[in-house]
Amino acid sequence: MAEQDKTELAGAAQKLPRHIAIIMDGNGRWAQQRGLPRSAGHAAGAETFRRIATYCKELGMDHLTVYAFSTENWKRSAEEVGAIMGLLKKYLLESIEKMERDRIRLKILGDLTPLSPELRELIAATDEIARRLPGCFQANVCLNYGGRDEIVRGANAFFREHPGEELTEEKLSAVLDTASIPDPDLIIRTGGEYRISNFLLWECAYSELLFTDVLWPDFSEKDIDSAVSDFQHRDRRFGGVKK
Ligand code: IPE
Ligand code: IPE
Ligand code: MG
Repeated sequence: MAEQDKTELAGAAQKLPRHIAIIMDGNGRWAQQRGLPRSAGHAAGAETFRRIATYCKELGMDHLTVYAFSTENWKRSAEEVGAIMGLLKKYLLESIEKMERDRIRLKILGDLTPLSPELRELIAATDEIARRLPGCFQANVCLNYGGRDEIVRGANAFFREHPGEELTEEKLSAVLDTASIPDPDLIIRTGGEYRISNFLLWECAYSELLFTDVLWPDFSEKDIDSAVSDFQHRDRRFGGVKK
C-alpha cells in the first residue's frame, strides 16, 4: 500500500462518527433492580440523555438521534405512558428556554398526530427556535416513531404530492422524518437486547451496530468513548472491497 494511502486510512480510522443513534433501553429494569417504579427509570434515563447529548456535542459530532418512544410503546400501562410523556414535556420546556444558549438544535421525529395538543405546540415552538440555529449540533428525539410507520407515511406523502410518479431511493429519503439528517454511522443499543425494534429501518442500511448490556440510566461518557473507539476500528466497505 502506498504511504499516502496508509496515512489516509489512518486518518479515516480516527474519524469521529458524525451521527450516533441510540436505542435507549433498560430504564424499566434499572428501576426494578432498585425496587423503584418504572417511571423512576425513565426519569433517570432522561438525565442520561441530557448528559450524553452534551458530551456528543462537546466531542464535535453533528447529530445524536435517540429512540424515546416507539409506535409500539403505547401497549404499556397508561401510567407508564403518562410518565414518559410528562418527562418529554419537561424536556421540551427546558429546551425552549436553553436551546439557544446551549446551541443544541432539538428535532422531534415520528408521527406527532396522536400526541396531545400541548405537546404538539411545544414541539412547534422548539422547531421555531431550531430554525434560528442552522449548523448547530442536532439532537433528534424519536417520539411515537416506528421505522415502518415512517416509510409508509413518507411514501403516502410522496404519492399525494406526485400522483403517478415512481418512487426512487432518493425521493423516498427526501420525504422521511430524517430527510435532512445523514444516515447514522453508528447505532448503539443499551440494555442487552440484540434487536432493532423498528428503529431507523431505512437509515440503518450501512450503520455499524453496537450492543451493550449497560442499562441506559447507567450509560456514561466513558461508554461513548469506548463506542467511538470501537467504531474507529470497524472496516466500513459499503459493499465494495478494500483497496
Ligand atoms: C427504554 O427502556 C425506554 C422506552 C422504551 C420508553 P424500557 O422501559 O424498555 O426498559 P426495559 O427494557 O423494560 O428495562
Ligand atoms: C425500544 O425498546 C424502544 C425504545 C427504546 C424507545 P423496547 O423496550 O420498546 O423494545 P423491545 O420491546 O424490547 O423490542
Ligand atoms: Mg425495553
